[in-house]
Amino acid sequence: MDFTVEGKIYRNGSFEQACLGIEKGKIIEIKKTLKGDTHLNVGTKLIIPAGVDLHVHFRDPGFPHKEDFSTGSTAAAFGGISCVFDMPNTQPQTISTQTLRDKTHLASQKSCVDFGLYAAVSDENIGRLAELSTLCAGFKIFLGSSTHSLRLSPQNLRVALVETNRTKKITLLHAEDEHCLKANKGLEHSLVDHLRCRSAECEEAAVRAIIQNSYDLSSPIHICHLSSCEGFEALRKRPTNMSVGVTPHHLFLDVHSLNTKPAFYKVNPPIRSSFDRDTLWYGINNKLIDIFESDHAPHTEEEKNVDFDNAPSGVPGVETLYPLFLAAMKKGQLTLDTLLALLCEKPAQLLRLSKGKIEIGRDADFIVVDLKKTEVITAEHLHSKCGWTPFEGFPAVFPTMLFIRGEKVIDDHQILVKQGFGKCVGV
Ligand code: DOR
Ligand code: ZN
Repeated sequence: MDFTVEGKIYRNGSFEQACLGIEKGKIIEIKKTLKGDTHLNVGTKLIIPAGVDLHVHFRDPGFPHKEDFSTGSTAAAFGGISCVFDMPNTQPQTISTQTLRDKTHLASQKSCVDFGLYAAVSDENIGRLAELSTLCAGFKIFLGSSTHSLRLSPQNLRVALVETNRTKKITLLHAEDEHCLKANKGLEHSLVDHLRCRSAECEEAAVRAIIQNSYDLSSPIHICHLSSCEGFEALRKRPTNMSVGVTPHHLFLDVHSLNTKPAFYKVNPPIRSSFDRDTLWYGINNKLIDIFESDHAPHTEEEKNVDFDNAPSGVPGVETLYPLFLAAMKKGQLTLDTLLALLCEKPAQLLRLSKGKIEIGRDADFIVVDLKKTEVITAEHLHSKCGWTPFEGFPAVFPTMLFIRGEKVIDDHQILVKQGFGKCVGV
């Protein structure tokens, strides 16, 4: 056996002191004692699955001053994420076979973690999705305008969903209704203005339209970053192939607790009230939410440091995603079972990955965690190119090690793999 690792391993809902046997990047045995060519004993530290983040914007190609695949994937690795899925609102947008091939090539050379790519569905490429599906992990539909986004016209939603359904791949939707956004549009000076212009009714209207147009479809449909009580209620009667994701910024922040630098918290959909935030936590703890996703959307401090109306929307978060939830778990806000389901197992299942769980036959993707070590998040210790975080000062538990396919990627604040270690998955 190539490699064995010993510690408190989480399996089937509980911890046991045991060993993982790893060969060719896969877990091939789990036993009380095993000895491989190389053996690592992590003592009483925990061994839990690495996270899968199905929603990041690594800005590559097109916006290298904000992020690129190398810095974005390094940030992911330090945050215990072994696999990321990148959104298509880059420059050029990922909407054709050529742009998918080009992005696959650049990410294969730069990524430190495994990755998959989404293609955007636009009014123009609806007829070519079968061809695109051979090169992407899934599709993204923006129903409302957002940062650098390519919006789909509402009259094309049904045909777009029918076409993506045929490909059997997942379709992710940004659920804000454009008609509603337009009706509420106005000059924005504050986060409360942003909230008014992108009201919960806009999310609710988009969610209802998606449900109405997907009643007879069977491929996975994912509603990204649910943010409101109204959207949550509309999703209660969703079809079984529909999943719902939430982000840390909608769960750990609320509009009334943010008193400084408002443009830094400008994001679509907006950070709402504590009532909305509590509804999302209720959903998590009652099995009504399926996925944790970072929606890592970096913009530089310079870009954010302008008057509110002109600031771009989006916040970084791939590196703090898992650590924030581990700290929340310590505080009793959710169970470890729920955390691992939403951050590891379910995203792996939706993207059909052999990851997300410590189980024989799956990729040896796991993190080593010392739960006694709570740290405080500071931007200077993070690795995104944007150089700031909306979670400055928040408690977090960072992994001490990350393994991807049995390779040690992070150890004691060092990254040990070269750019290009990450493999393209999900195609
Ligand atoms: O706030 C957002 N920023 N929402 C999005 O939908 C896109 C993202 C970005 O790419 O900056
Ligand atoms: Zn996004």
